[in-house]
Amino acid sequence: MNPAIYYFTGTGNSLALSRLVAERLGGELIPIASVIDRQRIESDADVIGITFPVYYADLPNIVRRFAEKLHSAKGTYIFAICNYGGGAGDSLKALARILESRGTALSAGFGVHMPQNAFRKPWEMKWLAYKRAPKRADFIVRSVEEGKTGLFYSNVVIQAIMTPFQGWIRRMTALALGKASSTPSPSGLTVEQLIPLAGKSFSADAKCTGCGMCARVCPVHNIEIVAKKPVWQNRCENCLACFNWCPTSVIHGPLANSNYRYHHPDVTALDIAAH
Ligand SMILES: Cc1cc2nc3c(=O)[nH]c(=O)nc-3n(C[C@H](O)[C@H](O)[C@H](O)COP(=O)(O)O)c2cc1C
Repeated sequence: MNPAIYYFTGTGNSLALSRLVAERLGGELIPIASVIDRQRIESDADVIGITFPVYYADLPNIVRRFAEKLHSAKGTYIFAICNYGGGAGDSLKALARILESRGTALSAGFGVHMPQNAFRKPWEMKWLAYKRAPKRADFIVRSVEEGKTGLFYSNVVIQAIMTPFQGWIRRMTALALGKASSTPSPSGLTVEQLIPLAGKSFSADAKCTGCGMCARVCPVHNIEIVAKKPVWQNRCENCLACFNWCPTSVIHGPLANSNYRYHHPDVTALDIAAH
């Protein structure tokens, strides 16, 4: 087996899971951010993994673009690991649709429950999610080695309950992102179009030291440091890396709960900045 595991992450959960799987399966770990600017993303791996966080009950924009550019041999076993604080939403099915439209297929998709990085959940037991992750990774590796096919959610009940509400969730998300980006309502823009605009709503307060960490951890180089202050451009993925990795917690914006900062304990800002 010659696997390649592509991952996208803002706060490290997806990287930590990718490491757990790569430790057992072998293969190369490749940040999606490091290949996304290529016109074609070619892979000759016989097994391809794609790990990503769920955003707004769907795929992050960058993962959508990655899947649209991915070229692999027909018959390549492609698996995905989506992780989330609540549920997978439509993300795995959306990825399957894109790959099918390109003549390949999503062989297997796995959901993994991880800590929520966008807002505080007072009842959340982060330690339990970290404890369960290696077991889930074992299940994923065994399934890949056996060539299993299908979608394997970590919480099938939540998945079944939420699926009929997918359209409503996306409409509410469009409203919230429109508000966050001060876009006149109704904007007629899709969630995908509003995501980069909403990123413009971040700002750093007067305590910002101009250290530039936000620009270094941004996976899509969306932050420019101008006169020792960050200025957000129009490529934001809403990953919240800038917000959560800021060493002085001086970044604010309507996309995140300003009292809550999160990153996976085994991942450092330098791991994220290495993209
Ligand atoms: C913009 C944004 C939207 C999110 N939307 C969802 C969601 O719809 N459902 C969910 O369960 N978690 C959602 N989350 C939580 C993340 O999917 C989750 O915490 C993930 O493990 C973070 O992965 P990372 O550390 O690799 O970035 C969202 C997070 C962000 C930043």
